[in-house]
Amino acid sequence: MSERGAALAEAERVLRQNWVVGRHGELEFSYTEPSPHRYPWQWYWDSCFAAIVWRRFEPARARAELESLLAAQRRDGFVGHTIFWRSHVSLLRLLFYNVTSRKAFQTETIQPPLLAWAWRVAVGDPREEPRIGAHLDWLAANRDLEGDGLLWIVQPDESGLDASPKFEPVWGRRANGRIGFPLLVHRNRRLGWDARRIREAGGPVLCEALVNTLWSLSLQASGRPSATPALVERLWDERRGLFFDEVQPGGAQPDVVTWAALAPLALPDLPEEIGRRLVEEHLLNEGEFWTAVAPPSVAVGERGYEPGGGHGPIRRYWRGPTWVNSAWLVWLGLRRLGYEQQARQLADGVVGAAAREGLREYYDPRDGKGLGANDFAWSALVAELADPPSAGYL
Ligand code: GLC
Repeated sequence: MSERGAALAEAERVLRQNWVVGRHGELEFSYTEPSPHRYPWQWYWDSCFAAIVWRRFEPARARAELESLLAAQRRDGFVGHTIFWRSHVSLLRLLFYNVTSRKAFQTETIQPPLLAWAWRVAVGDPREEPRIGAHLDWLAANRDLEGDGLLWIVQPDESGLDASPKFEPVWGRRANGRIGFPLLVHRNRRLGWDARRIREAGGPVLCEALVNTLWSLSLQASGRPSATPALVERLWDERRGLFFDEVQPGGAQPDVVTWAALAPLALPDLPEEIGRRLVEEHLLNEGEFWTAVAPPSVAVGERGYEPGGGHGPIRRYWRGPTWVNSAWLVWLGLRRLGYEQQARQLADGVVGAAAREGLREYYDPRDGKGLGANDFAWSALVAELADPPSAGYL
């Protein structure tokens, strides 16, 4: 079998294997576990990625997966980062999880809000599902702190990029994966994870590039005004040719170079000259992101680049290895801008790694060695790279 055929077969196998169905009181749920044993609950953005791939194998499951997120939605439109359908968090996890109590049904924090876009790709028109509109309204009302259409996060893990080194200048010892992280959780619990209260209490709150890329895709998928112009206005660094997050209070823009600085490549309305700079100066640069299996989650030349996934008892994610969702998102930009040969090269690297190693959580960018959790569901996005759809995703 070709590597592409093997990757496609593996994607379908893992999605089917990880599918779970059940009932929680009155509510029925069904979703794809991110990884059996390691990640038993429903994670918001994992489900969005899984649904995107389910559409090609069993479209009814794509809808059911996203319907489960909507079934967990609060009346005010909020949908949490993690939904605890099947069991409560342990006492130990209470230190690290953004829940009000052990009995909590979901976290009080968000994950990158791509639900509306995933619905558009995998199910249909989000405008026909009022709960999605309510979800977007909640995000705008509670997280657009500056009124320019961009969202702000209150913890590193809200970006999905948990322990990325780019958060260290912002949260210091309280960043994810650092010793003080439970103190951040504790403080935000006291402040009700309310972004405005957190900002008033001295912050920090962060306008983050990946969150706002996926937010802009969701807005566009729902026929709402795009957030891309505001993203460029606020986060584009013309001199460096990269997107850097903004911290408030204070307005600092730490310039740690991670793949998220390239994430806006996924935006169909990104100005072309910006896209070309991201690609030519950075993505295709071997000293930064153009590795055998690209793009590494942290630029090769950065201090703190750990391509082998790091060592030690605490797992620290997003510090060097390549994740399939990131590869797919930047590949969208390569294709849109006409870098066909490079898009194929990037796809071949990821497809080859998945074919050889199976669907792992992330891969060593130098040789594609599989790392982290096994049978990791969103790595099924390799199917999009192995067998690209003829139409775009919006
Ligand atoms: C890790 C990742 C996060 C993901 C979760 C479940 O925490 O950093 O993005 O949602 O695992 O797969």
